[in-house]
Amino acid sequence: MARPESTPHMPPIEIPALKDYSPGALDGFFGEILALFDQDASAATTVETVEELRIRWIGRKQGLLTRISEVLKGAPPEARREVGIRFNALKSAIEPRCDPEQLKATAPVTDAIDITLPGTRRALGAEHPLVRTMHEIVSVFRNLGYSVEEGPVIETDYYNFEALNFPPNHPARDTQDTLFIAGQESKPQRDRLLLRTHTSPVQIRTMEKMKPPLRIVIPGKVHRNDAPDATHSPIFHQVEGLAVDTDVTFSDLKGTLDHAMKALFGSSVKTRFYPSFFPFTEPSADVQISCIFCGGKGYRDGNRCPNCKSSGWIELLGCGMVDPNVFGFVDYDSTKVSGFAFGMGVERIAILKYGVDDIQLFYQGDVRFLEQFL
Ligand code: PHE
Repeated sequence: MARPESTPHMPPIEIPALKDYSPGALDGFFGEILALFDQDASAATTVETVEELRIRWIGRKQGLLTRISEVLKGAPPEARREVGIRFNALKSAIEPRCDPEQLKATAPVTDAIDITLPGTRRALGAEHPLVRTMHEIVSVFRNLGYSVEEGPVIETDYYNFEALNFPPNHPARDTQDTLFIAGQESKPQRDRLLLRTHTSPVQIRTMEKMKPPLRIVIPGKVHRNDAPDATHSPIFHQVEGLAVDTDVTFSDLKGTLDHAMKALFGSSVKTRFYPSFFPFTEPSADVQISCIFCGGKGYRDGNRCPNCKSSGWIELLGCGMVDPNVFGFVDYDSTKVSGFAFGMGVERIAILKYGVDDIQLFYQGDVRFLEQFL
């Protein structure tokens, strides 16, 4: 007589009697056991009760299967095969259903769900404001027929400086507080690695692989050794542009950027080109837009406009005509083609567009800040 097995939630089970070892008696015996298991298993609807089911049926020591196999040890040799086949079939029917994983597949829908409860709202992700601004800038230029290029963030001295007409030891390099990768003193200077300080090296990489005409924008991450504060971050983003063709003029540059600034900030903004210097453009200019906070007046509600320091203008990006020396580095014939380039800070544009007062907010991952851009 088998010992009844009992667990806190389930009534004890008795192993049915086995009259003889004929195939018919065996079928009856195993059929009854499976029916018992089915009954037992139908009550196991929680992880806890499935675990009880498992211990009770396939637990190593006290499990019913173990005890059934002991009962069957008494089978005469000629019946062993028939017993074995049926025992294994029973085992493979039972085992998977003693795994709490199966609850997921077969959980009854009935009382597991209270339809009066409010639903679980799954928060939808959204583009980060910087990525969104970057996409917006890029799409303004895509609409003008520009295509997108990208390049490595870890760059060589050659691409970041030398080929952009910053000669070794030239003081113009000091304007970019460069983060160099350590331990490269044994390499020739042009091969030394650094974190690119601007997206301009991708101008060179693209001109090396493509012949003119060329119209590209280059969005990407850049680094400079600046201490973080409300307006500075050692990591920031730029979108670079480059157009090279026959007869490209400064007027084309002005028209293109004037259009882009209107597309980004509204059709009433004006642009102004102010003389500047970059080693890789000649002439070079800083582009200013009329202040979007005071409408270019310099005064707002009778007070000096703090955003443009009452000048009416906000400086936004650098640009210029590609210096012929740069074409020399990439085998473009500067007697046949000309071009312009520009580079703008994504953070700066996002700060102005969305009225953000601290650049650090972009990098802190605070949902209260980010969800305002949904
Ligand atoms: N690379 C320059 C910077 O980061 C910006 C620039 C790009 C200026 C292209 C002119 C032309 O300051």
